[in-house]
Amino acid sequence: VVIGPEEPLAEGWADKLRDAGRLVFGPTADGARLEADKAWAKQLMRGASIPTAEARIFSDATAATAFVRSRPTPPVVKATGLAKGKGVFVPDTIGQAVEAIDKIMIAKVFGAAGSQVVIEERLEGPEVSVLALVDGRNIYVMETCQDHKRLADGDTGPNTGGMGAFCPSRQVDDALMQRIERQVLVPTLDALRREGIDYRGVLYAGLMLTPAGPKVLEYNCRFGDPECQALMVRLESDLLEVIIATCEGRLHEVDLTWKPGASCCIVLAAPGYPDTPKAGLPISGLEAAAAVPGVTIHHAGTKRTPDGAIVTAGGRVLGITAAGSSIEEARSMAYRAADLVHFDGKLLRRDIGIKV
Ligand code: AMP
Ligand code: GLY
Repeated sequence: VVIGPEEPLAEGWADKLRDAGRLVFGPTADGARLEADKAWAKQLMRGASIPTAEARIFSDATAATAFVRSRPTPPVVKATGLAKGKGVFVPDTIGQAVEAIDKIMIAKVFGAAGSQVVIEERLEGPEVSVLALVDGRNIYVMETCQDHKRLADGDTGPNTGGMGAFCPSRQVDDALMQRIERQVLVPTLDALRREGIDYRGVLYAGLMLTPAGPKVLEYNCRFGDPECQALMVRLESDLLEVIIATCEGRLHEVDLTWKPGASCCIVLAAPGYPDTPKAGLPISGLEAAAAVPGVTIHHAGTKRTPDGAIVTAGGRVLGITAAGSSIEEARSMAYRAADLVHFDGKLLRRDIGIKV
């Protein structure tokens, strides 16, 4: 069983299925805390000297607010629990930071996920996602990706689950990758093992490449969406074999091969995303888009109605993914296909893969 999303992982479905004798790809609930409990993840990083933003954790809104007001510059405010990628606020003013605390802890817009906040220093630099397969002991680092979390062009608007991704990132050369492995991935796995956690699945580190070196912004306990789409169109090896080897602790026996070149995924989102995406909008042009060379269309928030029409049924509706010989080629194919798909109020960013 491959468990894709974070909620069932955090709820312990891997534990239940493993206990029932199934082979499961995805960490147990204690491992999924890396993503599902940012306060816990922060403490784990601190304990293992893994580079990350300086942070303080609060369970009380008044104390959190007083701390924010005492800062010379506005810090980043994060709900500790799962919030579909929307629980992080990067405010430009102290006032906005206080509003973020109110939203998370008083208005409780993310429910119990807002019982604690992590307030951390704002870092600067390009972002890169490093995804690794982990079989309990061994780490296999996949190609690097870059996600685009903000809703609108030029990294403006609210944070989303991700509006597009490309692969590989040109920010990371071999030396930097070795540093990321040595300073982030290996110590994370060691720290998990010290906690008695047998982590099997994908370990995803969202990093910011600061002037002082790479620092962890977040962990995910799964493939990212849309990073996964960008990665998978480049994977030449048999994914199932790799997954089984990961579950069985035999990752050292498999070798993954990747298509040369690059890939790019453009997310088409429903109007109103991320807050109130509109469902039920008819989608057309899927066949023409799928016929563009190198293009794969991944459905996310879609539904087939009884009369056979495909309609929107979620925030991020489709991932339009293309593989090509270069990022420029992959991008232009993905946009050509994305422009052939229509639904009312379709939202997409026009700058995916430009800030290479
Ligand atoms: P996260 O879900 O924790 O990755 O946060 C979502 C996005 O918020 C990241 O991709 C960054 O763009 C931004 N972010 C998170 N933490 C920080 C930080 N400490 N400094 C600057 N930006 C951040
Ligand atoms: N794109 C980031 C995520 O899946 O959380």
